[in-house]
Amino acid sequence: MSSNEHKSFTSKEQERTGNLPGEPQKSPFRLGVLISGTGSNLQALIDAIENQQLPGNEIALVVSNKADAYGLQRALKHRIPAIYLPWERNVGARFIAPPMGDQLTSPESRLAALLQLFQVDLVVLAGWMRILSAAFLGQFPRRVINIHPALLPDDGTGSTYVTSNGAQIPVFRGLHAVQQALDAGIKITGSCVHYVTPVVDAGPVICRQEVAIEDGDSEEALHERLKVVEHRLIVEAVRKLSETSIN
Ligand code: GRF
Repeated sequence: MSSNEHKSFTSKEQERTGNLPGEPQKSPFRLGVLISGTGSNLQALIDAIENQQLPGNEIALVVSNKADAYGLQRALKHRIPAIYLPWERNVGARFIAPPMGDQLTSPESRLAALLQLFQVDLVVLAGWMRILSAAFLGQFPRRVINIHPALLPDDGTGSTYVTSNGAQIPVFRGLHAVQQALDAGIKITGSCVHYVTPVVDAGPVICRQEVAIEDGDSEEALHERLKVVEHRLIVEAVRKLSETSIN
């Protein structure tokens, strides 16, 4: 290898890992991404890592509670370990539960065990449609984040949000936030990345962005525009948290 080749190899490797030559190697910041569907936010993370926009990060594992989630295909295409984890209570328990024990019989316990096995530093809910219990979240304190397609307030459980133009809008939590924003007739909605706490869609916000609702918007069209914003927000949030942890 010529010295130039060596140089460019070193700087590429440096960009990918965030390690500087001559300094002790930092271990990568490992993401566990949980999905239930299309996985376009997962793709945004994959692309950001491959394009060196998230140095020092890697996706350790993708888990889906749906066997046919397209996000699983996205992960496999990029050679990322991808697992379908059935979420119905006790499915498969007879194969993996320890005799006389129930430690691994719930889907949540199996998920926690997988995330620990894959040494995940941050759990990213990217379109994950299952509620996680306080007991589960207690095992990953301030290490689970979610992306939500509506504006959430700074005060967690508050029921209103004040937009940048001073309009007070209702807070939409849960599965139908995009349609609810349309039904409410408001002019501005948005997306947030927030920490996950036992109260659904009420944890501290890490970053958010407003999105204008256009006349005649359909749920699908609005959700597509929200997703464009989300793809930037999810990368920004992971960068913020990994930088704090890596440096
Ligand atoms: C996103 O809009 C996210 O806000 C919501 O679920 C959707 C997932 O989309 N929680 P995708 O599977 O990442 O395309």
